[in-house]
Amino acid sequence: MGIHPPYPSFTTPDTIDDFFVAGRNLWPDLADLKQLTYDREQVPDEVVRFLRSTCLNEHGVAHYLGSYFHNYHNDFKLRFWSAMWTAEEYTHYIVLRRIIQGLGDDLTPRDFAGLEDGDYVENFLAYLDDIRVDKSMDSRMLQLIYGVLQEYGAVIAYTAAAEQCNDEGMAKILRRVAKDEMRHCRFNQVALEAMMEHCSEDEKALVWPQFRAIWGDLQMPTEHIAYFSEIGATDLYTSLWDGEKRSKIILYLSHYFQKFRQYTKDPATT
Ligand SMILES: [Fe+2]
Ligand SMILES: [Fe+2]
Repeated sequence: MGIHPPYPSFTTPDTIDDFFVAGRNLWPDLADLKQLTYDREQVPDEVVRFLRSTCLNEHGVAHYLGSYFHNYHNDFKLRFWSAMWTAEEYTHYIVLRRIIQGLGDDLTPRDFAGLEDGDYVENFLAYLDDIRVDKSMDSRMLQLIYGVLQEYGAVIAYTAAAEQCNDEGMAKILRRVAKDEMRHCRFNQVALEAMMEHCSEDEKALVWPQFRAIWGDLQMPTEHIAYFSEIGATDLYTSLWDGEKRSKIILYLSHYFQKFRQYTKDPATT
């Protein structure tokens, strides 16, 4: 049995390079963040709970990388993206853990063991299979559409945490994390758009209904790791969302995906 030849890549080396360079520039002060201190009394409990859970979630990237590799097949450029993305999410883990330590708290060995024990890849792939609108869909397309939703969910979650944390220094860092998440969202969009230039009309027709299907049963990665339900954190992304944030997400996502609606067979009915 030979190794499957690489699938054609739709993203160019320049696309990857541009994202790589921008990502390197975002955390020039990473080493300095060791010195953070905060007044725990000022920070609402739900924000601290969010920070602990999301820090652990950012540490979950080793799980998430498994599904990326699976769904991106052997696409050479998307392999690079997976590696860069993993490093950037791991940076968020480091930043968030330093904030938590600055609050006088920390993740525990039980947290790490609980997270690492999860059978995420199996659960997540079963969810994606369930939600796939057409069996013939290239799983890169499915992963990229999901990626736009997931990363934008992260943008909104970190933005909400920045607004609610009552500490300007912490808020600044959380807004920087949100900016990174927006870059991740944007990469999924750019890669999806590049794919569209090479797709058949039948494949293009699947994007809008696939977006609607995922939005209709949106399950975030945390919902596929048992430990998050043990600590009551499956609502991690949404715990700080209010009605206004939810409307912002719906508006942003429908606005973005709207342009794919024209490719559906009968846009009037979908
Ligand atoms: Fe992140
Ligand atoms: Fe991200």
